[in-house]
Amino acid sequence: MFLTDRNIFVFDEIDSTNNYAKQLIADKVVEGTVVLAHYQQTGRGQQGNFWESEAKKNLLFSLIVYPRFLEAGKQFYLSKIASLALLKVVSSRLKDARIKWPNDLYVGEKKIAGMLIEPAIKGACIDSTVIGIGLNVNQEVFLSDAPNPVSMKNLKGESVEREMLLSEFLEAFQQYYEVLAKNHLQAIDDLYNKNLYRGAGWHLYRKDGIEFQAKFAGIGEFGQLRLEKKSGDIQEFMFKEVEFVL
Ligand code: BTN
Repeated sequence: MFLTDRNIFVFDEIDSTNNYAKQLIADKVVEGTVVLAHYQQTGRGQQGNFWESEAKKNLLFSLIVYPRFLEAGKQFYLSKIASLALLKVVSSRLKDARIKWPNDLYVGEKKIAGMLIEPAIKGACIDSTVIGIGLNVNQEVFLSDAPNPVSMKNLKGESVEREMLLSEFLEAFQQYYEVLAKNHLQAIDDLYNKNLYRGAGWHLYRKDGIEFQAKFAGIGEFGQLRLEKKSGDIQEFMFKEVEFVL
């Protein structure tokens, strides 16, 4: 499948691997192409934020896939399988790794990785997507105002080889991608829900400045977070509509 004839473009420095990957899609590169950078001048995070990453310390890459079998409304499954692949890589080295809805990976209460997934839709289905991943590996000090960054080195006390992490991610991603292509959505849902940060118990959330206690009550068809409030009401939240109070 796509990993065998994979192309990898490696840059010492680039604006953003996601930007370059989009250009490659316009040139119709093969599925499984990876753009890897040792440093990004304008690494992009969620909500227009900058993604901080010291040169040559972390894993910064974008994977290109063409999931033309996937209906546009099911695009959150790309986030689910990318999160599960990342979880596999991180949890083989560190305890307490969890997927934080919608696009982060946490270890304990700290963020070790983020994802920026940029699909392009044609008709009813997804035509192509860039799966951009930033995994904090060997950076020890974070300067941005991101609330709770952490790296593998911070947690393990020793450096971790970055190349191995990439190949393990790609292998795991391919496995989950095949499950998705076979439309085995329940298997993906079960694994995702089981590994969610705050997947059990009551926790504090905030919407429009108002804090409330709630517990996880599932993920909706389009990736919405369902939370049950103390009153018993179940509410659904789209991305950015609710904050986790940390
Ligand atoms: C987040 O805000 O949590 C998402 C961060 C995504 C960062 C990665 S680094 C590689 C790829 N290229 C980018 O410009 N962003 C993503």
